[in-house]
Amino acid sequence: MQPHQLLAVLASGEALSGSRLAAEAGITRAAIWKQIEALRQRGVPIESAGAAGYRLPWPTQMLEEQAIRTALPQAVARRLGALEIHWEIDSTSSELQRRGSGAFDFSIVMAETQTAGRGRRGRRWLSPPGMNIYLSCLKRFEAGFASLSGLSLAIGVIVLRALHALGIDGARLKWPNDVLADSGKLAGILVELSGEYQGPCAAVVGIGLNVRLTDALREQAGQPICDLATLTQGMPPDRNRAAAALVTSLVEGLAQFERDGFAAFVEEYAQYDALRGVPLRVSSASGDLDGVGAGIDARGALQLQTAAGLCGIDSADVTVRRA
Ligand code: BTN
Repeated sequence: MQPHQLLAVLASGEALSGSRLAAEAGITRAAIWKQIEALRQRGVPIESAGAAGYRLPWPTQMLEEQAIRTALPQAVARRLGALEIHWEIDSTSSELQRRGSGAFDFSIVMAETQTAGRGRRGRRWLSPPGMNIYLSCLKRFEAGFASLSGLSLAIGVIVLRALHALGIDGARLKWPNDVLADSGKLAGILVELSGEYQGPCAAVVGIGLNVRLTDALREQAGQPICDLATLTQGMPPDRNRAAAALVTSLVEGLAQFERDGFAAFVEEYAQYDALRGVPLRVSSASGDLDGVGAGIDARGALQLQTAAGLCGIDSADVTVRRA
């Protein structure tokens, strides 16, 4: 029995004894125990329920291509370049980058777990299996990087649209594109561009969405984080449904961005801007700048009202904190 098969068996949340698992898999109880430990090492919170055996603290669903496809509107399903679900991969975004010109537009790669998940500014994105969503999407643009200002902010709006489609409100955007809820990070977005400034280029959009967090993950994260379970009183949406909502919103939203640019997203961004009116400290290699968040401009630059006047911040290489 492989780790993903064992997780699939435990996904219902029911307790299963080691001997029953061993009998079903045709392996020894010791081999089952080894697999349980391997899943725990990857961050899956499998509990030992005494004689009842092993169980997850809550039910989950394994990601399944067919379940996701079935939940997509036909127009979206038709546009998809590929829809791959891996058990384990280094990083879904690295995988799409390796495909290079071999991948079609709107190719989607997802994984149950990432061994080298990447966050912004060189950080790691912890990716235990069976709980959250790790998804990347490839989109090409003819007009080059020059036409893509605001893209990473637009993706924040696209994630919020997906949450709204799932009936989940209350999330907001922290410039440039962190999705926050309950003062913790609910989703992270990494947009990586390759190609030419004024010619064909490609964007790999990576999204990590927290569906269920464990205490261990909260401790390791190094910042406040939040999950869909918290926003839904412990009843997060089925992970395949959540993945389908993200895919739908990405396909529709990226097509809209290609057609209309960031202008199509500015108002929605402003509606969910968590930094407007908030005292901020913007830190960069050249020092700190204090001011009050004053929205974003038409290109997506953060507007900071400082003592010296309004200042536009458009480098992603800054840290924005509440002052
Ligand atoms: C951030 O630091 O806020 C961005 C996190 C982005 C994480 C996602 S998970 C799917 C995709 N694959 C990665 O390696 N990173 C992105």
